Amino acid sequence: MELAIRNVTKIFDGFTALDNISLNVRSGELIALLGPSGSGKTTLLRLIAGLDFLTSGQILFGDEDASAKSVQERNVGFVFQHYALFRHMTVLENVSFGLKIRPARSRPPAAEIRRRALELLDLVQLTGLENRYPNQLSGGQRQRVALARALCIEPRVLLLDEPFGALDAQVRRELRRWLREIHDATGHTSIFVTHDQEEALELADRVVVMNKGRLEQIGTPDEIYDNPVSPFVFSFIGESSSLPVKITNGQVWLQDRTIGLTEPNAPDGPATLFFRPHDIEIVDGCGGCIAGTVVASRRVAGTKHVEIEIGAEQHRVEIELPVEHPAATRSRIAFRPKKWKVFPASGEPLYHTAPAPAETHPATMLGRVAV
Ligand SMILES: Nc1ncnc2c1ncn2[C@@H]1O[C@H](COP(=O)(O)OP(=O)(O)O)[C@@H](O)[C@H]1O
Ligand SMILES: [Mg+2]
Repeated sequence: MELAIRNVTKIFDGFTALDNISLNVRSGELIALLGPSGSGKTTLLRLIAGLDFLTSGQILFGDEDASAKSVQERNVGFVFQHYALFRHMTVLENVSFGLKIRPARSRPPAAEIRRRALELLDLVQLTGLENRYPNQLSGGQRQRVALARALCIEPRVLLLDEPFGALDAQVRRELRRWLREIHDATGHTSIFVTHDQEEALELADRVVVMNKGRLEQIGTPDEIYDNPVSPFVFSFIGESSSLPVKITNGQVWLQDRTIGLTEPNAPDGPATLFFRPHDIEIVDGCGGCIAGTVVASRRVAGTKHVEIEIGAEQHRVEIELPVEHPAATRSRIAFRPKKWKVFPASGEPLYHTAPAPAETHPATMLGRVAV
């Protein structure tokens, strides 16, 4: 089932929770809605489900306008973080519930409901536990029952709101992989909410990054990570360092000196330079690089994270070095980003990749992602 969200706005008592969101979801796609707490993810999911109504805009299921339809008419499946199972019902009764409560004319025969529920329990690898009660299951098992329950009604769209949010990291990682496998096996169009970027990047076909009720960027995990279109996306996804800079005639200036980076299409004026801590090279001399004093260094797994203080204004950035690098506290160090982006303080973001310091590279203007 394809889904089209068109210019959706949701206002609660004068507070705009969703601001003109547009998004097309392809049939069979697994989409992650990713954003910090309060960015509007749950609100958008509830509007798609029909649990709440739009202030303006339209939601289409296929060619059909679903905006005014009820939850039942939309036939969506849900899994929520704290969507408790019915405690007084067994696992099997929980899974078959959605079909049992259907009106007689659309309800399958009891034997068929049982067959389908058992088949789903097999899919979520809970065969043998059908007569247990929810309090006899682990958290991960309960969420698998919740998923089987959501799938039992043969939903047109599957909606998951931080379904693994309450589980510990190890179980989360396992369930994440397993959810992707189930998704590939059943082919449901699915929308998955998370505030965990790792979960979104690992699981989704496309990621929708949300911030303050707005859609910041839509793209594949690679696009989002490699080509963030805004300072928010750059700093929200993955590790990042940033510095206030100035653009003059396409040259990037840090305080009173150039740093060997050019951005020919950037308008003159203040801007912010972003780079990933691991996308840098250490240089010897400093005729066009970033230099500073090491103020802290810590080992993180296989690398060393080094914090550097730069210039009189004492801006701090972090870079990543091999563990054997001798960067000692209070020593001077000079580096150059190998990939970076400059976002003018006002106006459109710029796109720039893999420059070689001696060459000039045409930078491409990238319009804000259409929302
Ligand atoms: N029923 C409501 N009434 C008033 N404000 C709401 C309501 N539901 C959500 N909000 C507000 O809308 C914003 C987005 O909330 P939500 O969609 O739950 O964010 P997220 O799921 O991304 O954490 C928040 O500021 C929240 O307080
Ligand atoms: Mg939420």
